[in-house]
Amino acid sequence: MDRKPDQGGARSPKPFKGVFIVFAIAALMVVAYFAGRSYFAPSGDGGSLPSSGATQGTARIGGPFNLVDQDGNAVTEADFRGKYMLVYFGYTYCPDVCPTSLNRNVQALDLLDPAQADKIQPILISVDPARDTPAHLKEYVGYFSPRLIGLTGNAEQVAAAAKAYGVYYAKVGNPDDPEHYLMDHTSITYLMGPDGAFIRHFRHDAPPEEMAAQLRKVIG
Ligand code: NI
Repeated sequence: MDRKPDQGGARSPKPFKGVFIVFAIAALMVVAYFAGRSYFAPSGDGGSLPSSGATQGTARIGGPFNLVDQDGNAVTEADFRGKYMLVYFGYTYCPDVCPTSLNRNVQALDLLDPAQADKIQPILISVDPARDTPAHLKEYVGYFSPRLIGLTGNAEQVAAAAKAYGVYYAKVGNPDDPEHYLMDHTSITYLMGPDGAFIRHFRHDAPPEEMAAQLRKVIG
């Protein structure tokens, strides 16, 4: 709302007030919609997985990927060998779960000794490559931590990476506003070893202290 009080406001206050109420109701509906979605979306929190743990029967999580980092460089999983990877799939326009998870991931690293944290590379892999260009990712990951790397690619590259990790994602279109769509997606963080093998996962609601404790156990 960009109305100036001196532009007809005194002449006709009632329509203005009515418009405001309509907007307020619409805003509340939007907030309720997003809150409900993130709370109930079956794929948004990893379904029935525990808040963290070494998932049984998931030896196949992870594998080769070919993506592009936030500086536009081609990268593969081999570029991260020798480091633990903390891999999260999400997208920069995500209203709530992604920022919460990414913030938690970097908070957990901040709780470790610096020497331990330096062994772990936090990574965001975009599931929305149409909007998440390298430049856009670069700005976004910078809000969280200089440690965080953002990876994107073309639609096929992202699909292949998500498939390797067993990550689900799908566009949730809004017919009234096709530009501002959402992405439904798995919201799990994967800890991969220096050899690239899956070690354990963390759900988005695992607190940073719990995550840090688990990371200490693994890294020693
Ligand atoms: Ni998200």
